[in-house]
Parts: sequence; C-alpha cells; structure tokens
Amino acid sequence: MKKMAIVLAAGQGKRMKSKLYKVLHPVCGKPMVSHVLDTVNRAACERSVVIIGHGADVVQSVLGQSVEYALQAQQLGTGHAVMQAKPMLGEEDGITVVICGDTPLVRTETVEAMITLHARRGAAATILTAKLDNPTGYGRIIRGSDSGVLRIVEHKDCSPEEAAIREINTGTYCFDNRKLFQALEQVTNQNNQGEYYLTDVIGILQREGNAIAACLVDDPAEAIGVNDRIALGEAERHMRQRINAQHQTSGVTLIDAEHTYIDAEVTIGADTVIYPGTILRGHTAIGEDCVVGPASELTNTIIGNGTTIRQTVTEDAEVGEGCNIGPFAFLRPGTKLGNHVKVGDFVEIKNSVIGENSKVPHLSYVGDAVVGSNVNIGCGAITANYDGYNKSKTEIGDNVFVGSNANLIAPLKIGSGAYIVAGSTITQNVADNDLAIARERQVNKPGYAEKIRARARAKKDRETD
Ligand code: UD1
Ligand code: CA
Repeated sequence: MKKMAIVLAAGQGKRMKSKLYKVLHPVCGKPMVSHVLDTVNRAACERSVVIIGHGADVVQSVLGQSVEYALQAQQLGTGHAVMQAKPMLGEEDGITVVICGDTPLVRTETVEAMITLHARRGAAATILTAKLDNPTGYGRIIRGSDSGVLRIVEHKDCSPEEAAIREINTGTYCFDNRKLFQALEQVTNQNNQGEYYLTDVIGILQREGNAIAACLVDDPAEAIGVNDRIALGEAERHMRQRINAQHQTSGVTLIDAEHTYIDAEVTIGADTVIYPGTILRGHTAIGEDCVVGPASELTNTIIGNGTTIRQTVTEDAEVGEGCNIGPFAFLRPGTKLGNHVKVGDFVEIKNSVIGENSKVPHLSYVGDAVVGSNVNIGCGAITANYDGYNKSKTEIGDNVFVGSNANLIAPLKIGSGAYIVAGSTITQNVADNDLAIARERQVNKPGYAEKIRARARAKKDRETD
C-alpha cells in the first residue's frame, strides 16, 4: 500500500507572540516542522506534501527541495489546509498520514504502529490519541456506547460533559486517501471558530458507515502540540530527555542529564563524559573518550577522540584528537586545531590553523594565523591582525618559540625554528632559525630606588604643609 504524508505548516501561531513562524521555532535546536518531517520520512512515506502559508518562503528554504509544497493562501482551518493537497494527492490510492507541524514529539515508531493498526482494522481513518491529565485546548475523542470512535469535538465547541473527556486528538491521523478528500468536500465552517476543521472528517466518515480506529500513545508527551511558549518549553524538556537518554544508551556518560543541553543533530562517541552546564548545539560532533564541560557551549564544532574541553565556548571550529582546551578558552569560527594541541585559559583563537603538538597555554589572542606544529606561544603573546581597516595574516613555521607578551604585528611571517624574545613587538618577517628581539635594552641604576622614594616623600611633605 502506498504511503503518503501531509504536514500542516501554514499557520502563523499567534499565541506564540513571535516574529518567527510557529513551525520554525526550534526544539532542541531543530525547527519543529523539521522534526515532524523527519518522523514521517523515517516512516517511509513515499510522497510528503507540506502545506505552507505564513512564512511560506522561509519554511520552504528551511525544509528544502526533498518535499512537495502546497500553498494555503488563507488559513481557513486544518481541513481547508489538507484540501490544498488535493491537486497533488487526490488521485492516489493508499494511506495518507496527516500530521501537524507543531507536534514535534511524535515518534516514528508511533506513526508506524498507527499505520499497522489502521491496516489491521481496515479503517477509513485512524486517530492517534492520548490520555492527558489536562486536556485543555485539544480536540476530544467522542466514543459511542460500544466504545467505537464517533467523532472529534474541538475544545472550543465542547459541552461541559465533552470537556471532561481526557482522551484527546494528537493531530496525527492516517486516512484512506480517497475517502479523506471525499469527506473533506463535506466539511463546513459552522463552529465556534468559523474554521474548516479536519477533525470533522472523522464524524463524516463514521456516519457514512466507515470503521474509525484510535491508536492510543503510551507516552502522553508525544501529544504535545505547541501553541504557546509554555508548551514550547515542555516540548523542549521532553525532547531533551529523549535525546540525552539516547546518548546514554549508546555509551555517553552525562554527569547530570538534567543540566546537559544537546541539540537533536549532535553526535557523541562512546565513553565521552559530559559535565553539567554543557550546551552542544547545531551539528557538533564529538569523538570518543572526550571530556566536555562543565559549563561549555559548543556550536557546530568537531572534536576528535580523547580531547578535553573545560569551561569553553566554541563556534564553527575543528579540534583534533588528544587536545586540551580551556578552562576559559574561546574558539571562534574558522579555528582548526591539529592533534595534541593545548589551548589554555583566557585564550581566544579566530580563523586560524594551529599545527599538532603546538601550545597556546595562557592569555593569548591568535587571529587570522597559520601556526605550524610544535610551536609554543608564550603567555600574553598576541597577533595584532587588525589595523582598524584591514585584517592581515600571520604565518608561523614549525618549532617556533614565541616569548611571553610578544606582539606579532601582521602581516608577518616567522620562519621555522625562529625564536621571538619575550616582550618583543615584531613588525618585520623573521627567517628560519633567527632570533628576533625588539625591545628596549635594560638599564639598572644601583641604589637608585631609595633616591626615588626620598624624592617622592619630600614632594608629599611640601604639599601637606
Ligand atoms: C488541532 C486539532 C485538535 C488537536 C490539536 C493537536 C483541528 C481543528 N484541531 O488543534 O483537535 O487536538 O491540533 O495539537 O484540527 N494549520 C494550517 N492551516 C490552517 C490552520 C492550521 O496549516 O488553516 C496548521 C498549523 O500551522 C498547525 C496545525 O495546522 O501546525 C494545527 O493547527 P492549530 O491551529 O495549532 O490547531 P489546534 O488548535 O492546536
Ligand atoms: Ca496546535
């Protein structure tokens, strides 16, 4: 049987009070609608049509070209939204999964279980339902005396008795495709919201004598429909728990899973230990046997095996194997560290490549530089890469020693094996194995300290007289 999917993503989401269209709000770093689309794709739906309206361009640019789109120019309700897919899917035979773009927690396994039940029952429609302690806002499942599903009543249209029902519509369904579009023709907007409800299709199909099935989810969290920021926070919390448990199951130690924040797309190797307060964002990929945190924020960062990163912020960076980063380092975009590199406390690296076994242990800024291997950059040494207008490059060869507090004024080339004396301000290129010193020669004046103090005391006495 051919499987198709329709994802509803045209609404604005007024209750979010946001400039961002609702279905694009991220949950664990990934837009809600992307979570939903991944779920239906994993359930092997051959065609997926996303209904877009508010922010259509933006939604399309986020989801890309792997799906089909139908435009719902005016948002007249979920039934009207599904109707927009009729020109594309109306002539298909098969099963159509309809899912809302604001229910990011629905699992693939759940969609598959729903499809299996649907087929087994020979149903025209199967609703994914949940039993909630607080069903406020959700459509209620109305069952007849034989406990079969009769219809769905929206919260705003409920009688007090109906409002007391705890079984709700999660907004995910599967339908016999032809019957779906045929029943949609009969949906009207005679209700408290003046909308064409998709949920009315259930009552219509039931009255026509079709079998309606309900598939109850085990985990009520899957039912969360994000209409406001409170639900968004709830969805985030549940998704975080799910993601963290997956990493734990695959061999990652989370010292305090409740205070570890890992985006949906992050990968982590086995035997890596994550300390609390760590935030791993975007496409961060961490190897095996690493130690990350506490209090570190890694965005789109690749970390090799066996690396330690403490109290550090990184973004669009690559770190090799066996490196030691932090505490309190800042790796900015374009940073590429080879294997066994040390970047210590209060060091900032930007758009720079640092070769293996090199060390930048304390209080340095390295920007727009290419640094060779086995280089030592002394405490407080910096590259001066910016003159207020232009960014310039610094090249440092292998085995270079840069003394403490050196200023390397770019553009600059320092040859392999060179030795930069501490405190130097280097403005000219240094050849291989040269020693460069650029500072005032020291003068010592024997016993002069006492003379200076006597003079200062006399000045103070004159002024207080
Ligand atoms: C809907 C269901 C409700 C269910 C709940 C589950 C209806 C009438 N109600 O209510 O039974 O319990 O979801 O979360 O279906 N959308 C469009 N075009 C529209 C209207 C909505 O594309 O014209 C999209 C929205 O972007 C959203 C989804 O459909 O992703 C659901 O719409 P929403 O307004 O959030 O419906 P609920 O009131 O939550
Ligand atoms: Ca909703």
